Amino acid sequence: MEVRWTGAEPLRLGSPNAAISLIFTLMFGVWSAQGLEMSVGKIPFLEAVNGSTVMLPCTYASCIGIRNLYFNWQYNDNGTMTKVCEAEIPSEDSDPPVKIFRDRVEFVGKNIKNNVSILLWNITFEDAGQYTCFGRNPKEMNKNHSTIFTLIVVDELRVVDNTVTIIIASAVGGAIAFLMGFMLLKNFTLYVLAKLEEKNKECLVTSSGIDNTENGLSGSKGESKPTPKKK
Ligand SMILES: *[C@@H]1O[C@H](CO)[C@@H](O)[C@H](O)[C@H]1NC(C)=O
Ligand SMILES: *[C@@H]1O[C@H](CO)[C@@H](O)[C@H](O)[C@H]1NC(C)=O
Ligand SMILES: *[C@@H]1O[C@H](CO)[C@@H](O)[C@H](O)[C@H]1NC(C)=O
Ligand SMILES: *[C@@H]1O[C@H](CO)[C@@H](O)[C@H](O)[C@H]1NC(C)=O
Ligand SMILES: *[C@@H]1O[C@H](CO)[C@@H](O)[C@H](O)[C@H]1NC(C)=O
Repeated sequence: MEVRWTGAEPLRLGSPNAAISLIFTLMFGVWSAQGLEMSVGKIPFLEAVNGSTVMLPCTYASCIGIRNLYFNWQYNDNGTMTKVCEAEIPSEDSDPPVKIFRDRVEFVGKNIKNNVSILLWNITFEDAGQYTCFGRNPKEMNKNHSTIFTLIVVDELRVVDNTVTIIIASAVGGAIAFLMGFMLLKNFTLYVLAKLEEKNKECLVTSSGIDNTENGLSGSKGESKPTPKKK
C-alpha cells in the first residue's frame, strides 16, 4: 500500500541520481502515507464451514478525504482476478449503488464508517481463496490501493483439534479435580486422624489420669508414645 523502493532499478548510492531518487521516494512515501488505506482488520483470513454465511470485512481510510472513490472486491480465481462487486462512492456519508457480479454476494458495509464489507451467503468449497479489497481515490492521482482477505472453507471446524482440546481440557480438569479431591481427602483424613489422636490422647490422658493419679505428667508422656505408630 505504501510506496517503497521496489528495487525495480538498482539503487546506486554513488550516483547523484540515487540521492534524488531517494529523496523523491521518501517524499512520495510520506505523501502516500496520508493517502488512501484499505484494511481488512487485524486478522486477514477466516476459516468457515461449508454452507455458512461469512463476512469479508474491508474499510477504507483517507486523511485527505475521498471524492468518487472507486472500490471493488476481486476474487483470485486461479490467478485470474474476477470482479465480485464494484461501486463508486461519491462521498464519505453516502450509501453507494453497488454492482454485484457473483452469486450469493451482498454488500453490507453500506459505507457506514467507511465500511465496504460484503457478505458471502451459503459458502461452498469453490468460494475458498483470496479476495482483494481494492480502492482508488481520484483525489490522490488515482493511485491503487488494495488488501487481501483469505477465506478458508472447511468441512467441519477443527474436529480433531477440538477433541484434542476437549481431551486435554478434561484431562487437566480431571487432574485438577483429582488433586483437589485428593488434597481435600488428605486434609480431611489428617483432620480426622488429628481429632482421633486428640481424642485418643484425651482418652489416654484421662484414662492415665484415672489409672495412675500419682504418675501424673510422666504417665501421659509414656502413654502418648504409641500413637505415632498409627500414622
Ligand atoms: C457442504 O455442506 C452441505 C450442507 O451443509 C452438504 O450437503 C454438502 O455435501 C457439503 N459439501 C461437501 C463437499 O462436503
Ligand atoms: C487451477 O490451476 C491448476 C494448476 O495451476 C489447475 O490444475 C487447475 O485445473 C486450475 N483450476 C481451475 C478451476 O482453473
Ligand atoms: C442460503 O441457504 C438458505 C437455506 O439453504 C436459503 O434459504 C437461502 O435463500 C440461501 N441464500 C442465498 C443468498 O443463496
Ligand atoms: C461493517 O459492516 C458490517 C455490517 O453492518 C458489520 O458487521 C461490521 O462490523 C462493520 N465493520 C466495521 C469495521 O465497522
Ligand atoms: C490500477 O489498477 C487498474 C485496474 O483496476 C490498472 O488498470 C492500473 O494500471 C493500475 N494502476 C497502477 C498505477 O498500478
